[in-house]
Amino acid sequence: MTVLGNEFAGAVEAVGRGVTFFEVGDRVFGYNGTRFGAHAEYVAMPQDGSLATMPAKVTYEEAAPSTEGSHYALSLIRKAKIRSGQDVLVNGATGAIGSAAVQLLKHLGANVTAVCASEHLELVKGLGADRVIDYTAQDFTKDPQTYDVVLDAVGKSSFGRCKRLLKPGGIYLSSDLGPLSQNPILALITPLVGGKRVMFPIPKDDQEMARYLKGLLESGAFKPVIDRRYRLDQIVEAYTYVETGQKIGNVVISVEPSTS
Ligand SMILES: NC(=O)c1ccc[n+]([C@@H]2O[C@H](COP(=O)([O-])OP(=O)(O)OC[C@H]3O[C@@H](n4cnc5c(N)ncnc54)[C@H](OP(=O)(O)O)[C@@H]3O)[C@@H](O)[C@H]2O)c1
Repeated sequence: MTVLGNEFAGAVEAVGRGVTFFEVGDRVFGYNGTRFGAHAEYVAMPQDGSLATMPAKVTYEEAAPSTEGSHYALSLIRKAKIRSGQDVLVNGATGAIGSAAVQLLKHLGANVTAVCASEHLELVKGLGADRVIDYTAQDFTKDPQTYDVVLDAVGKSSFGRCKRLLKPGGIYLSSDLGPLSQNPILALITPLVGGKRVMFPIPKDDQEMARYLKGLLESGAFKPVIDRRYRLDQIVEAYTYVETGQKIGNVVISVEPSTS
């Protein structure tokens, strides 16, 4: 692999023989989870891949960061079968996955408590969180409230530390392998023991996911959080920033001069 990048948005330049879903000129967005190649002027996608036409009012800058963090969030939410009225805590609500998780959970009607640093409390409330916990002032694992689901979107906790936050039969979800890569193992063991359990789904990227996210973008139920924008020739700076671990939401790479 020589070109990184999983999620993208752009116009269809050419179609192969037999392509019937898309036409030259269609504005599309999507996710290329296994083959990468999205940090480039052109990327080839199968027509049945994780790809959809963009809602008319959405820009490329908004559509491009709409499938990666959100598809990880969606995969966690669907695995735990989270439904309206459930109490869910999201740790790392400012990351790409966390900021998408808060919005997707609110769309489903869950009651969301979100954990982030003090300077981002207003941003996270703006995503729809019902309650926010500032992790710089309070250890969220000592929260007196209990939850149906704890979703750690930044891999900064463990099942052991969060167990007391869970209601009987509650579920711990994480986007990260966890300390000593324990989460996939715990996901196999804890259902056998019964009671509180860990789930660690393998995310699926398919066309249904892209179409679902298109619907949410169209209705305004989901809007990706965008932190910084870089031009393609500034990609080293973009990666350097992302690797600080302090980006908020998403960083967009534009193949045209940035408008910001
Ligand atoms: N992004 C992906 O597509 C992807 C794919 C697979 C796996 N993962 C894994 O999923 C995790 C999240 O990735 P991401 O890209 O969504 O986010 P990220 O860039 O890793 O997270 C950045 C955010 O984490 C928050 N944060 C930092 N320390 C924290 C702490 N101690 N407690 C709570 N929040 C904290 C920061 O916000 P504050 O300033 O508010 O703390 C910042 O907004 C990573 O562990 C990554 O390896 C990500």
